[in-house]
Amino acid sequence: MDSKLDSALAMIGGTPLLELGRLHPGPARIVAKAEFVQPGGSVKDRAALRVIRDARAAGLLAPGQPVVEMTSGNMGAGLAVVCNVLGHPLIVTIPRGNSRGRARMLQALGAEVVLVDQVDGSEGHVTGADIAAATQQALELARDRDAYYVDQFNNPSCIRAHEEGTAPEIWESVGERLDAFVAAVGTGGTFVGVSRFLKRMKPEVVCAAVEPRGAEVLAGKSISKSCHLLQGTGYGILPPQWDASLADSFIAVSDHEAMTCREMLAQREGLHLGYSAAANVWAAVKLVESGRLGDAPTVATILCDTGLKY
Ligand SMILES: Cc1ncc(COP(=O)(O)O)c(C=O)c1O
Repeated sequence: MDSKLDSALAMIGGTPLLELGRLHPGPARIVAKAEFVQPGGSVKDRAALRVIRDARAAGLLAPGQPVVEMTSGNMGAGLAVVCNVLGHPLIVTIPRGNSRGRARMLQALGAEVVLVDQVDGSEGHVTGADIAAATQQALELARDRDAYYVDQFNNPSCIRAHEEGTAPEIWESVGERLDAFVAAVGTGGTFVGVSRFLKRMKPEVVCAAVEPRGAEVLAGKSISKSCHLLQGTGYGILPPQWDASLADSFIAVSDHEAMTCREMLAQREGLHLGYSAAANVWAAVKLVESGRLGDAPTVATILCDTGLKY
């Protein structure tokens, strides 16, 4: 078999759909997109590639022009992979309180990392004001360096990546047998993009949004616990591109439940994954156990990133 690929970009998308039959034996099936196998190690590689390709195609990003984004983690890694292959310098602003490991990873990938002083957060705890400050710095850098500003929370390409990529891949593998889709929400690109496509194909598919327990804003609750382990999700805001009409159900997952499921995925399935992936799988099991989907449903979810990032 010839498995030669042109570049790391060919490793983005087309991820395997794994049966999690050891973690949850039938008759229900839980199937999960192995997004962590992509070169940046997460689901955000898809958004990064689509954003850059769309910006180039629209003439918003010229060959060799720098790219700027405010990110602490997975989007930055995805952008670094894509920018390196396509020849764009990448500059990322990061609130200083984020884990140093993430900044180191971005530097190793050749990105210029600008650490932004925090407004009111502390080491390991990044607040909304800290994010606003790092965003402001990114905007200024984009202007000063004549760079393209990604703006992942507002960029429609992040949704398109999933509506035209992840979702059709799930549908191709599972098709009419699919009963539900479950995913945690950061920018909402994954949930909104995948749900929109699946509901077009089969309106009865139940789409459930996963939130950290105590930070269930999408479900309309007030925040009682803003600090949680589900990094990359549960920012305590309604993401600007959120589409409430797609969410049939909201499932809250506690830190303890995510940790327990993370251990189960490692020990039963041989998968060392991040916390949002574990929360997604836990929520999929809860949805099955609720009985709402009948006796032997098929539920699809997302394994967002590798556990090596934590
Ligand atoms: C680990 C992890 N899980 C889930 C998500 C959520 O993805 P989205 O931004 O598409 O909602 C992210 C986003 O950065 C992430 O880093």
